[in-house]
Amino acid sequence: MIDVVMLPEMLDAKILPESQVVVLDVLRATSSVVTALAHGAKKVRLFGTVEEVSAAAVTAPPPVITAGERGCLKVSGFDLGNSPAEFRTDRIGGATVLLSTTNGTRAAIASRESQKLFLASLLNASVTAQALMGEIDKLHTIFVAAGTNGRIAHEDIIGAGAILWRLLGDSYRVDLPFTDTAWLAYNAYSATRGRLGAALRLGQGGINLIENGFEEDIDFCAAIDSKAVIVEVEKTTLAAKIYNQAT
Ligand code: MLT
Repeated sequence: MIDVVMLPEMLDAKILPESQVVVLDVLRATSSVVTALAHGAKKVRLFGTVEEVSAAAVTAPPPVITAGERGCLKVSGFDLGNSPAEFRTDRIGGATVLLSTTNGTRAAIASRESQKLFLASLLNASVTAQALMGEIDKLHTIFVAAGTNGRIAHEDIIGAGAILWRLLGDSYRVDLPFTDTAWLAYNAYSATRGRLGAALRLGQGGINLIENGFEEDIDFCAAIDSKAVIVEVEKTTLAAKIYNQAT
C-alpha cells in the first residue's frame, strides 16, 4: 500500500513496523531540516517541546544550535527560528541543531515506530522518491502530512503528491498500489506543479506565514528539488541525518 495520511492523528500505529514513512511539513519544519543538513549540520535532533530543547542544549556536546518556533515566531532565547534560509552553513555547519516546531517535529515523533523514517519537503522530492523505491514492494509506504494545528494542510498534500508523481513517473510502474488519498495528493501536485509558490500561498500555513512577515520562506520552500539530500531519522535518538548524498 502507498498511502497519504492527511494528519498524524489519522495514523494507524499498527502498520508502522511494516512501513517506510515519510513525514512532510512543507511550511516549514521539514524544509528547514532538509536545508540544515544540506548546509552541513551534523544532525538535527527533533523535540516535541521547547523545554526539551533547552534541557538538551545543556547536555549535548557542542557545537549546538537551538532552533524552533511557536506561532511561526522564533522561540525566545533560541539561536534560530524556523525559516529555512536561516540555516546557513556559516551558522550551522558542523553543529548539532536542536529543533522543536508546533506541528512538524511532533509528526515525526508520532511516526517513530516505523521501520524506516524519512523527512521530506518539496526541496528534496526527487531524491526521496529514489530512496523509497528500494523497499516499495516490501514495505508499506506511508506519507504523513503534519498539518497545521490539527487541520489538513494544502502544502503538505502537494508535497506528498510531488514525491508520488516521481515514484510513478520514474519507475514506469502502473501497478503501484496507491490509496485514494495517495491519488488525491498526486492530483493536487499535478494541478499545481507549474506554480508551486502561488499554490503554497493559498493554504492556511502560507497565510499564517504571510501575516507574520515570512512570505519569502514560501518561495524558498517551493523550490522543488533544490536540495539533493535524503533525510532519515534515527528512531531511538530522533536525530535526522543525511541518508545518502545523491549524485
Ligand atoms: C510547524 O512545525 O508547525 C511549522 O513548521 C510551523 C512554521 O511554519 O513555523
